[in-house]
Amino acid sequence: PTAAFPPTSSSMDISSILQGGYQHPLSRSWQSRRQLTKSMLMYPIFITDDPDASVEIKTLPGQRRWGVNRLEEFLGPLVKKGLKSVILFGVPMNCEKDERGTPADDPSGPVIQATKKIASLFPSIYIAADVCLCEYTSHGHCGVLHADGSINTEPSVARIAEVAVNYARAGVHCVAPSDMMDGRIKAIKRGLIDAGFGNRCTLMSYSAKFASSLYGPFRDAAGSAPSFGDRKCYQLPPSAKGLARRAILRDANEGADILMVKPALPYLDIISDAAQIAPDHPLACYQVSGEYAMVCAGADAGVYELRTMAFETVDSMLRAGATLILTYFTPQFLDWLEL
Ligand code: PBG
Ligand code: ZN
Repeated sequence: PTAAFPPTSSSMDISSILQGGYQHPLSRSWQSRRQLTKSMLMYPIFITDDPDASVEIKTLPGQRRWGVNRLEEFLGPLVKKGLKSVILFGVPMNCEKDERGTPADDPSGPVIQATKKIASLFPSIYIAADVCLCEYTSHGHCGVLHADGSINTEPSVARIAEVAVNYARAGVHCVAPSDMMDGRIKAIKRGLIDAGFGNRCTLMSYSAKFASSLYGPFRDAAGSAPSFGDRKCYQLPPSAKGLARRAILRDANEGADILMVKPALPYLDIISDAAQIAPDHPLACYQVSGEYAMVCAGADAGVYELRTMAFETVDSMLRAGATLILTYFTPQFLDWLEL
């Protein structure tokens, strides 16, 4: 008995049929060029200068400000689940902030202390440090200012480079300047090389960082809101595709090892541009505090299931070309992912 093979009566053209390629969970997974793995995740964490602190951050559900004495209990379980990398943000509460952000690289300050602590507790963890002055300046801006309140570029760049080199000396694997001062990448790279860290410290540039409304919860968490004005004269205008492309190219040429687009979800076109402009660099994107809060709020409102939506957002970033994702969802993804 032969199988029946009726002559074609369907008018459906062979090339119309796509569903045969994704009828199974496994074949669906083959349809993505890249899938999220634990090594693509970098977890942003807030370190404060009260060594015993563990303080909830209201606008950033599930995230806390941690003191160095609490890092073992905080990170230990995550390392067990496969955490590979963190990026540190210092939140000084008990220090004197000044015009040049002196506390940023205070050897007893939160970033340098946390770096040493994490390196000794968890030697396998890749430690990045955000480099900026806004958490440490009296005025809350990311650079050093002229008397009229505008950015004074040269001393800003010099100070940012100094902080970056001091973080490298403390043992971070990566410095990540988020200040957006012109020329900082070149100055930091020069500084790292001259201090003997050219081959020992990665330089990840927040190249295309936009003046977004999505940083609110972060500024809450880090106490880094400017005391006057805004950041529109140094962070990029949200509509500026050309400036973003030029910044990405510039930072690649100035010696950045990794480029970044930030925020991520509203800027997928920029991620995609960056992947084409600098195809030979790793490309990071930062799912920022407001994006995270938005995804959580939608889930709380019953709009979607948190896990499904979280994956949908990061999959869009990978599709656009990101190879590394900074996200507050990292602890959840460690639970959700197998690899
Ligand atoms: C500091 C900095 C900010 C973020 C990272 N580094 C805030 C800002 O630029 O005002 C935002 C990160 C987030 O929202 O999660 N320059
Ligand atoms: Zn800043």
